[in-house]
Parts: sequence; structure tokens; C-alpha cells
Amino acid sequence: MSNSARAFVLRHTRLQDVPGLAGIRLHLADDVLALWRATQDETGDPDAPLPYWAFAWGGGLAIARYLHDQPEFVAGRTVLDLASGSGLCAIAAMNAGAAAVMAVDIDPLACAAIAINARANGRRVDVVCDDILDREPPSGVDVILAGDCWYEALLAARATAWLQTAAQRGIDVRIGDPDRRYLPLEAVRRTAIYDVRSTTDLEDMNRNRASVYELRVAPT
Ligand SMILES: C[S@@+](CC[C@H](N)C(=O)[O-])C[C@H]1O[C@@H](n2cnc3c(N)ncnc32)[C@H](O)[C@@H]1O
Repeated sequence: MSNSARAFVLRHTRLQDVPGLAGIRLHLADDVLALWRATQDETGDPDAPLPYWAFAWGGGLAIARYLHDQPEFVAGRTVLDLASGSGLCAIAAMNAGAAAVMAVDIDPLACAAIAINARANGRRVDVVCDDILDREPPSGVDVILAGDCWYEALLAARATAWLQTAAQRGIDVRIGDPDRRYLPLEAVRRTAIYDVRSTTDLEDMNRNRASVYELRVAPT
């Protein structure tokens, strides 16, 4: 993690409770648009992605609640948290007793935030700052969590295809999603539903429900 990324995350967030999730605290921001402008200035990139990492999204909140209710799903197992953002699902998995957790995100600021948040919660999380969706799912992983990746068509298609491959290899996949447009409902089976409140006001306030889904294994 670069020192400047770490300093940027700490400068623009404050450690706070996550609504509905006793026991998890994250460095979160209050104003997404102000932080987005600061990110563009910091990176010199007018096309810098939204600072997803500075908020807890509906899909991740649903997965975290699911792991709180059903810790046996990850206890003693090796977990990969795809599109980890703040690291919320990764931390929830460690709290539920996972043996090891790898958090993956493409945004270097997210990777800094994951490391900072893991430490703030007294958890060890291995951070991979890379796009792994064109590779084979890593060996040795028992469970993959994917919170809120279906907000954009290309990412949704790539994540779904990669997770299908993982499921075909016998990895247990759980998706968290608040009824986003690009989730292929025919490819999933709902296993739980929760009332959630995303921590960003960018989100439509009516989007206060999120589900956890199992991925149906596509025939090979
Ligand atoms: C809406 S956020 C969800 C964060 C977290 N899972 C949650 O639910 O709070 C989506 C995240 O996906 C990440 N992302 C986008 N494309 C990705 C890719 N190809 N591989 C891994 N992460 C990706 C973004 O950087 C962002 O952090």
C-alpha cells in the first residue's frame, strides 16, 4: 500500500459504526461527491472511479448480515472477497471465523482502505490489488463473496462468468445485491433477504432491501 493512498483514505474518512452491524467499524466518508472531486485532484485523473471504498453498499451489508447469522458458512474456510471496496465482507468473514481471507479490488484507494479497515477491526486480511476476472479462480479458495458488483453491465457480465467458473470448480459462491439492474436473476437463487441502509446518500433511499444469493451452477 502506498503511503499517499493510506494518508488520503485517513484524511477523507472517519472511523464509524456500520448501521445494522454491531461489532464492525469502518473508515467511511460522508459526502461522496466531495470525495470524488478530491480523488480526481489527488490522482490527476478526471475519470477516476467513484470512491466506492468509502461507503458500505447494500450488497456488502447483506453479506455481512448473512455471515453474522450463519458463521458456519465460512468458519474454518478460506474466503475470497471479490470487489471488496471498504473490506466490509472480508472483515465480516474473519469475524465469523474464516481461516483466511483474501480481499480483491482494482482500485488502489480501496486496497488501502481494506488494509486500514482490517487493522481497525483487529483482523488480518490479505489484499490483492488487481483485476483477476480474466484468470482462473485461485486454487485453495473454499468460498467467494461478491457484494454489489451488478451496478454496471460490463463488470456484471464479467463477474457472473467468473463466479460461474468458480462454482463449477466446487467453490461456494454468495452474491449480495440490492436489486440492481444487471443481476441475472435466472442465474441465482435467493437464500436470505435483509433490510439494509447503505452509508451513501448517492443511493436511492428506497433501495433499502438487499438479498444474498447462491449462484446456480451452469452446466458445462
Ligand atoms: C459498489 S462497490 C462494492 C464494495 C463492497 N463489496 C460493498 O458491498 O460494500 C464495487 C467495488 O467493485 C470494485 N471493482 C470494480 N471492478 C472490479 C474488478 N474487475 N475486480 C475487482 N473489483 C472491482 C470497485 O473498485 C468497487 O470497490
